Amino acid sequence: MTRVLSGIAPSGDFTLGNYLGALKHWVTFQDDNDAFYCVVDLHALTNEIDPQVLRRNSLDAAINLLAVGLDPRRSTVFVQSHVPEHTRLTWLLECTATVGELSRMTQFKEKSEGHETVRAGLFTYPVLMAADILLYAAEAVPVGDDQRQHLELARTLAVRFNNRYGETFTVPDAAIPGAAARVMDLQHPERKMSKSVDSPLGTIGLLDSPEEITRKIRKAVTDTDGEVRYDRVAKPGLANLLDLLAAATDGTPQEVAKGYTRYGDLKKDVAEALNELLRPVRERRAELERDLSYVGSVLAEGASRAHGVAKLTYARAADAVGLLPPS
Ligand code: TYM
Repeated sequence: MTRVLSGIAPSGDFTLGNYLGALKHWVTFQDDNDAFYCVVDLHALTNEIDPQVLRRNSLDAAINLLAVGLDPRRSTVFVQSHVPEHTRLTWLLECTATVGELSRMTQFKEKSEGHETVRAGLFTYPVLMAADILLYAAEAVPVGDDQRQHLELARTLAVRFNNRYGETFTVPDAAIPGAAARVMDLQHPERKMSKSVDSPLGTIGLLDSPEEITRKIRKAVTDTDGEVRYDRVAKPGLANLLDLLAAATDGTPQEVAKGYTRYGDLKKDVAEALNELLRPVRERRAELERDLSYVGSVLAEGASRAHGVAKLTYARAADAVGLLPPS
């Protein structure tokens, strides 16, 4: 079985982008793979976040992972900070990465731009992400398109470490979906839909009501030429809607475009398809909220399974670089 790992930061409410770009595929991957999925709470500390909010978001994120359909009998679901090897391996990898390559990370450039002070953790964040992946010897990492560069870095660090110290890490591959790998903001289709950006009309939340979803899709920015065709450059708003419909119905955006001559009809079907897709998630979420002790037990079991794997990889890496083992 292929080992799979992915993570999501508890930095805000999950969006449709998170769902279509990543979570939906996490659920599929658990069928035939040995899958590990984590709530990466340490990553959320790279930006200012109130401690109470972080704690609540982390539990909320775990509930959402179960609500979208992760099954703890088939997936290991855990919280990153519950497994101490993530930070321990990060140090070994920070001593493998270079300042130059971290400076080239576009997410770092975007997130630090215009800020007078920038947390060192924001700079080294991609190394923590590499540690998340390499600890579990993940071969496939299901992520949205925005994580492509970080995945490339994880590969580079694995190869460099192996060359320097001997075969230690599995070199991972990104698994990026064909449709909706980059869901765009409905009001600003030139930028990605994001849980950390405040754009109430442009962002669809995983738990939005059908009315909210319908309203946001109806108000989504398109263009004035009136022709329904898939063109991400010339018609970014419309292309985004076609991507959403394609992802929700497992088609391609070019195919789904064929049936339409009017934007209004397309928007109506997009809203309907999204509501159909997200309804079971909302229902499961409501059930899970009534059983938080179950969620707690899933996370405890997940942390224990994850720790069992992570500690072996860490011990191998620590030995490879020459750390004296504790007697
Ligand atoms: P995060 O928390 O920003 O996003 C979680 C996942 O959702 C995807 N995603 C999107 N996909 C399509 N369209 C969008 N608009 C959109 N917005 C988000 C992301 O690509 C991601 O797959 N650094 C990571 C979390 C992480 C991780 C890891 C991922 C930490 N360690 C190890 C994989 C493996 C992040 O911030 O994702």
